[in-house]
Amino acid sequence: MSLIPQHFIDEVLARTDIVDVIEPRLTLKKKGSEYSACCPFHNEKTPSFTVSQTKQFYHCFGCGQHGTAIGFLMEHDHLSFVEAIETLAELNSMEIPRESRQNQQKQDDLKPIYAALADAQTLFTDQLSQHKHAQDYLKQRGLTGAIAKQYGIGFAVDSWNSLLNSLKKKHLEKTLIAAGLLSDNEKGRIYDKFRDRIMFPIRDRRGRPIAFGGRVMGDGTPKYLNSPETKVFHKGNTLYGLYEARQHSSKLDTILVVEGYMDSVALGQFGIANTVATLGTAVTKDHLQQLMRVVKHIVICFDGDRAGRKAAKRALEQSMHVLKDGMRVDFMFLPDGEDPDSLVQKTGADEFRKLIDQATPLSSYLMQSLQAENSKDSAEGRTLIAMEARELLKPLDATHAKLLKKQLLDEISLITQTDLQDLDVGKTLPAARRPKRIRSYNRQRQLEMTAMRQAIAVILQQPDTARLINDDLLVKLHPLPGGALLGDIVDICREQSSINSAILLENFRETSHFESLQQLSAWSPPPVDMQDIETTDDSDKPAQSDLSHLLGDAITQLEKQHVSARIEQLAQLETSTGLTDEEKTEMKHLLMLRT
Ligand code: UTP
Ligand code: MN
Repeated sequence: MSLIPQHFIDEVLARTDIVDVIEPRLTLKKKGSEYSACCPFHNEKTPSFTVSQTKQFYHCFGCGQHGTAIGFLMEHDHLSFVEAIETLAELNSMEIPRESRQNQQKQDDLKPIYAALADAQTLFTDQLSQHKHAQDYLKQRGLTGAIAKQYGIGFAVDSWNSLLNSLKKKHLEKTLIAAGLLSDNEKGRIYDKFRDRIMFPIRDRRGRPIAFGGRVMGDGTPKYLNSPETKVFHKGNTLYGLYEARQHSSKLDTILVVEGYMDSVALGQFGIANTVATLGTAVTKDHLQQLMRVVKHIVICFDGDRAGRKAAKRALEQSMHVLKDGMRVDFMFLPDGEDPDSLVQKTGADEFRKLIDQATPLSSYLMQSLQAENSKDSAEGRTLIAMEARELLKPLDATHAKLLKKQLLDEISLITQTDLQDLDVGKTLPAARRPKRIRSYNRQRQLEMTAMRQAIAVILQQPDTARLINDDLLVKLHPLPGGALLGDIVDICREQSSINSAILLENFRETSHFESLQQLSAWSPPPVDMQDIETTDDSDKPAQSDLSHLLGDAITQLEKQHVSARIEQLAQLETSTGLTDEEKTEMKHLLMLRT
């Protein structure tokens, strides 16, 4: 269950236009009241993907994918439900209220820590502007004042208590320690952690500083001193520069992963701002997953030496856990003795960009690394290659990386001279554990249209038609299959002043009805018989877009169903306990209605 209150989701959707969400990601063409594009979820040359602004809903007639703006972000950007809401909230400058008290408590506990870190950052940047030798160090490393500002780089002066003295007026000592800004020794003496260092703030997705890395300007050790793990900083899953990269460009295609602070900043200085650093640690699944939510193409930089190749092999293994069809991970190997910073200083931006473009695709790197230790020239070698391949490819998601897996297996099959498609590598997930969402990737089984479904479909598509249904009718229809659901839907329409299809639909995301309701939102009525159309004027077809007459038809049908069901019920009652006078009158009336 998400912790975001439904009323907030309703409101976000009321303010969102699905076209604004999809347009930056696809090229949309306006076609009448709808927009169309080539479907991003399957391969096609002629557009069958449509976006309806009135329904706030997308639908592909080719592959059957459909959903709301939330659904689109989940499928297209591979976001979780909560992340999709966060994205839409951000787009509308709205703050998400969290329902969980515990969560709220946690956020409240963290507030002073964030505040202390923000003030520390201001202090460090102020101090940089006051200390020329620190500025000179950055200049000598090729950085301009502007880039230092962009990355929030600062300076911690050579003092044991300068930060403590400046910040203790506003922040508790306890908070400054919790923020990782102060250290204490065994004797209980408390002092500034960072002294006489260039300070690199590490910022979270919202740009808040969560930690710092401090570099000595000379040869002292450690070269970089980092904030300890705190409640807001976990080194293993942090990527330095991600906020800055996203700030630099609203639409990133590719992200380059490097190792160090200076690599990231120096590349930024050369206009290659789509760079993040892992802070000297190996690339993890978690890193890759974070990046894949932002881009579809990741290039990872490695040293050209043995250690670099080892790190690349590890990154290859990690990638297998997160790769999905349509995503790309490339491996870039640096010349010996260079890091991205030193290299870009030497070659310049254009050459460096070329090197990024020439990076080795994961598939090629996989083939190289499989053959690095075993030769394909003997049966034994080919067996070992096949065995290693099987292990490596095992984690590849059997549902979301199906095509990629097939491609890779085909390539490996060529060198091992064995058809690996037959091996069990493709069957990692037993059917029962397969994620539910897989269904939306397949062409949907067509829902058989009943009167109840037709009524629901019309209201989903034109929520204002719910006014045609009164309480009397709802009471009557309640016992019929789908009657309770219809009641819920009508209730939501009545309660919400700014209702639309997407809002209505998203109220049911966590229920078992969601998938069929999505299908009904995409349902289009069968074409009207030509003889039924009175006017021949093509330009004026209000009847086609207004579906209320279809709701009327459905209600007529449903009332008939109610009559039959009630007659049945009374008949049964009659044989068991007999009918009261009132029920007898009702029965007579119902029988008349049926004929
Ligand atoms: P490097 O030693 O390659 O440093 O460490 P660098 O990035 O090239 O830095 P410059 O160019 O000498 O200034 C790579 C990364 O490993 C982490 C830092 O994140 C650094 O950027 N590291 C390194 C530490 O955390 N502590 C250290 O003492 C050294
Ligand atoms: Mn370096």
